[in-house]
Amino acid sequence: MSWHPTGEVVVDKKGASLVLSGRFNIGIGMIKKLIGPVSRGDIVIVKDETGEFLGEGFYEEIGSVGVRMLAFKDKVSLDLMSERIEKALNMRRKMKLGNYFRLVHSESDLLPGLIVDFYNDIASITSTSIGFDARIKDIAGILTKLGARAVFARNDSRTRRQIDLPLWKGRIAGEGPSDTIIDEEGVLFHVDVLKGQKTGFFIDQRMNRIYLRRYVSKGDKVLDLFSYTGGFGLHAAVEGADVTAVDESDYAEREIARNAELNKVKINFIKGNVKELRLNKEYDVVIADPPALIPSIDRKDVGKRAYLMLNTKAMSMVRKGGFALTFSCSQFLSQEELKIIVIKAGSKARREIKLLNGTLGQSPDHPIDPKHPWTGYLKGFVMSCT
Ligand SMILES: C[S@@+](CC[C@H](N)C(=O)[O-])C[C@H]1O[C@@H](n2cnc3c(N)ncnc32)[C@H](O)[C@@H]1O
Repeated sequence: MSWHPTGEVVVDKKGASLVLSGRFNIGIGMIKKLIGPVSRGDIVIVKDETGEFLGEGFYEEIGSVGVRMLAFKDKVSLDLMSERIEKALNMRRKMKLGNYFRLVHSESDLLPGLIVDFYNDIASITSTSIGFDARIKDIAGILTKLGARAVFARNDSRTRRQIDLPLWKGRIAGEGPSDTIIDEEGVLFHVDVLKGQKTGFFIDQRMNRIYLRRYVSKGDKVLDLFSYTGGFGLHAAVEGADVTAVDESDYAEREIARNAELNKVKINFIKGNVKELRLNKEYDVVIADPPALIPSIDRKDVGKRAYLMLNTKAMSMVRKGGFALTFSCSQFLSQEELKIIVIKAGSKARREIKLLNGTLGQSPDHPIDPKHPWTGYLKGFVMSCT
C-alpha cells in the first residue's frame, strides 16, 4: 500500500482551524470536497477552502472521523512513521520501564489510531484506523528493525467492533511463539499476546500494581476483584499476603495458577461474576479494577450506577482500618466523577473514608495528550476505610 497521496480533501473553516490547532481527527461533516481518486484508507492532501495546504493524512470515513491527520504542513512518508516510532521508543527507554511497555499510544505519540505494546521481543499492534490497517505490514517492518522477533495484530478490540472495522488477530511478521514472561519489578507474568485480553496484558496498571505493595503487609487478607492473570494479587502475595482473586474468565483462571507457580506463591481463585459475590467485611485490602463499565457515552447513566454498586460492595468488604483501591478505565468517566461516586459509595457502605495519595492514573508509557483527552482514560483512588 502506497504512502503517497491519491487525491485531495478540502475541509471547511472549522476543520481547518482544528488542523491548525494540532487536532488529528477531522469530522466527516467538516469535509467540503474530495478531489481526484479518494478511497477509504488512502493518503490525502488536506487543504482549506482557499486552497492553502494544511498537511496530509488518511482518508478514513470511519465512525465520525473523516480524515486522520498524520503530517501538519508536511508530507506523510514511511520514514516519518519510523521517526515517530523511534522517538516514542527513546522516550520509553528514558522511563526505565524494563522489558515491556506501551511503545505507541495513538495520538500521544503522533500516530492516531495506532497502539503498539512490546513484551520482550514480541510486538502487539492494535489499529483503529483504516489507513494503518492497510499498512500494518509496513509498521511491522519498522518494529522488526527495532528488535521485534515477532509482530502480532490484535485487531479484535471493542472499539473496532463499535466502528465496524473487521475483527481479526494473528501473526503479521517474524517467527516463534506468541507468549513470553515479563518481569514487573520482581513479579513475573506469563503473557500471551494472542490468547490474552486486549494486547495480552494490562500494562496501563503497572505503577498502581507496584504501588499497592506499600499498602500490603505480611499476613494481610487481600481481595483482588477482576484479577485477570493476577496483576494486583500477585504483587500482594509476593509481599506475603493471603490473596483471594476473582475473575469470570477461563483464561484468567488458567493463567493466575501459572503465574502463582512462576512466583512461588499461592492465590485462592474464585471463578465467577463479581456482581454475584457475597463476602464478609474481612479484608485488609480490596482492589476493584473492572473493565470499562461505561463502554459508550449513551450508557453513561447505567455505567455510573454500576460503578456506585461495585464501589459500595468493595468498601463493605474492607475491615475497619483497611484500604480499598478502585479504578475506572472508562474514557467517559472523569476523575472528578469517579471521586463523587467513591464518596457516595463510602456513605452507602457506612464507611468513613479518606482519600489517600490524590488520584492514581495510567503508567507513563501511556502519555496523555491534552488535545486528545481520551488518551487519558485510567483513573483510580486509594482509600482508608474505617
Ligand atoms: C481491567 S481487567 C483487570 C486487569 C488486572 N487488574 C491486571 O492488573 O491485570 C478486567 C478483568 O475483569 C474480568 N471481568 C469482567 N467482568 C467481570 C465480572 N462481572 N466478574 C468477574 N470478572 C469480570 C475480565 O475477565 C478481566 O480479566
